[in-house]
Amino acid sequence: MTTHVHTAAGAGEQSVDLLDPYPFFAHKRRQAAVFKGTVMDYSKTPEDFRPKNEFSAMSFDAVNKVFRDGRVFSSKPYDKTIGLFMGPTILAMEGKKHRDHRNLVSAAFKSKALARWENTIIRPICNALIDEFIQTGEADLIRNFTLEFPTRVIAQLLGLPAEDLPTFRTRAVQLISYHVNYERAFEASTALKDYFVEQIELRKSKPTEDIIGDLVTAEIDGEKLSDEAIYSFLRLLLPAGLETTYRSSGNLLYLLLTHPDQFAAVQADRELLPQAIEEGLRFETPLTTVQRFTTEDTEVEGVEIPARSVVGVCIGSANRDERRWERSEEFDIFRKHMPHISFAAGEHTCLGLHLARLETRVALECLLNRLTNVRLVTDGDAQDPHIHGQPFRSPNALPVTFDAK
Ligand code: HEM
Repeated sequence: MTTHVHTAAGAGEQSVDLLDPYPFFAHKRRQAAVFKGTVMDYSKTPEDFRPKNEFSAMSFDAVNKVFRDGRVFSSKPYDKTIGLFMGPTILAMEGKKHRDHRNLVSAAFKSKALARWENTIIRPICNALIDEFIQTGEADLIRNFTLEFPTRVIAQLLGLPAEDLPTFRTRAVQLISYHVNYERAFEASTALKDYFVEQIELRKSKPTEDIIGDLVTAEIDGEKLSDEAIYSFLRLLLPAGLETTYRSSGNLLYLLLTHPDQFAAVQADRELLPQAIEEGLRFETPLTTVQRFTTEDTEVEGVEIPARSVVGVCIGSANRDERRWERSEEFDIFRKHMPHISFAAGEHTCLGLHLARLETRVALECLLNRLTNVRLVTDGDAQDPHIHGQPFRSPNALPVTFDAK
């Protein structure tokens, strides 16, 4: 089903299609690198949270420039939007404070540090999930797999007890669905805070070798982190780490299943997985748009943006910029590699990009190793599985049939 949502500008021409916002992005991008107006769907956003004065960066160069100039394009206003659910986090910090806090956790997310989790945590989790459905010959790869593995991986990296997983999962999903139900997200935020405070207290008396343990013992300029700084960071990991990864791996599976030749190529040669993952992230980024706020009058690609404007940074549009990629509107894992911008750029570049790539590669390897003849179940009607949403995009379901190898 296609839903049309009119933007804040209200003009009929300016509408974003939740099923496929890309023609709208392309139309705007071809007119100008930056336009006055929005690419967001504000239909479920309370009036008070909708920006009044908004511009949108559409070309690759404009998006890149905005990300790389954190002084003029500030992230601070996240404190008043997503920060309401998560508390003060590195997402909204700037300068030295941002670097200090980010450095404390960045070691745990470097690719070398993560490598040891590949076979001890990530692969066993993916295989255990496949064990649960492999005998039946059918599955919904979203419900049975992609929604589940990033939650379990994060829970283990944080060092949460296995018996807490069901409650943790429910609360995490409620928190990341803040754009759908604000009240439930607030309740989940409080519940998660209470839960994380308990976990922090346990580690103060008995240190542990996990991310929460690292944070409890970490110091900035000789001072330990406050409990608030710790549980806020932990809450940020849920939307930042779970939502994006479950969506991006679902998008990649959908794209491969609907491009059988490319699926067959990856099945025959696993070495193609990294480039398939990058092309999936370029073509269908799980998060199409983030926001910045101008601290002074400025100009991007010839377009003037006044101080105190909200700038929608349209990653989805940048990733399809025809000036950077030939046949930019085609999914092609064999295309010449040119980095996409799905993990942002500049000082707030995604902290979890190595983890996201690792998790996705291992998840796909496990599926390809154990399932064969994987087919998407479709009736050829409008309800068929499809990627949809804006700014978050992914398929709701991926019903498949397969043979066990
Ligand atoms: C495919 C998966 C992912 C995508 C596309 C993605 C995308 C992004 C983007 C665009 C940002 C910048 C947001 C902004 O500045 O407005 C970001 C920041 C961040 N991401 Fe990711 N992310 C992914 C996975 C992860 C994972 C797995 C984790 C950790 C478990 C993670 C943790 C973070 C954190 C902590 C930040 C804030 C960094 C900072 O402000 O310095 N992300 N991510």
